Amino acid sequence: MKKILSNFKGTKNELIPILQKTQKKFGYISRRRLAQVATFLNITESTVYSVVTFYSQFYLTRQGKHKIRVCQGTACHVRGGAGIMQIVKNKIGIEPGETSPDYMFSLERVACLGSCALAPVMMVNDSVHGAMNRAKVDALIKELGKISGKSKSSGKKTSQRKTAGKKSPSARKAGK
Ligand code: FES
Repeated sequence: MKKILSNFKGTKNELIPILQKTQKKFGYISRRRLAQVATFLNITESTVYSVVTFYSQFYLTRQGKHKIRVCQGTACHVRGGAGIMQIVKNKIGIEPGETSPDYMFSLERVACLGSCALAPVMMVNDSVHGAMNRAKVDALIKELGKISGKSKSSGKKTSQRKTAGKKSPSARKAGK
């Protein structure tokens, strides 16, 4: 964190860039790092917190290795998006807004992935997958399982608070 902060002067308009670099390096912005940013910029922790929770790009809890976003927007909804979400939930064993206990998967519900013509759509990490059906979900999760060494999570889940974000995909988390 010190290394990140050393690249900045400490002016308030550096808040977003600092948070972006922190998010990129650590995968999330812990409470401790949030406090460090506040101290560095001489602003309140609540100010930093409000920014972190406003933008969907920031997370307050550790995320899974594979981030799965299932679109529930209108186009996807009318073409079976809810069913796709259910299949994914059953396959990885967590609910939207949760991260598996082994930190292999995080699942999010999103409003639109910008690929409505391919509905129903889901996104895995940076890849968009369209015209999803049960077989394609099965194959995709199976492939992720091979990558991760397992295909289904079990045990205690990490819950995250979800609220509307400024941009889609919208998901914000409260946590450590
Ligand atoms: S509504 Fe699903 S991609 Fe637009």
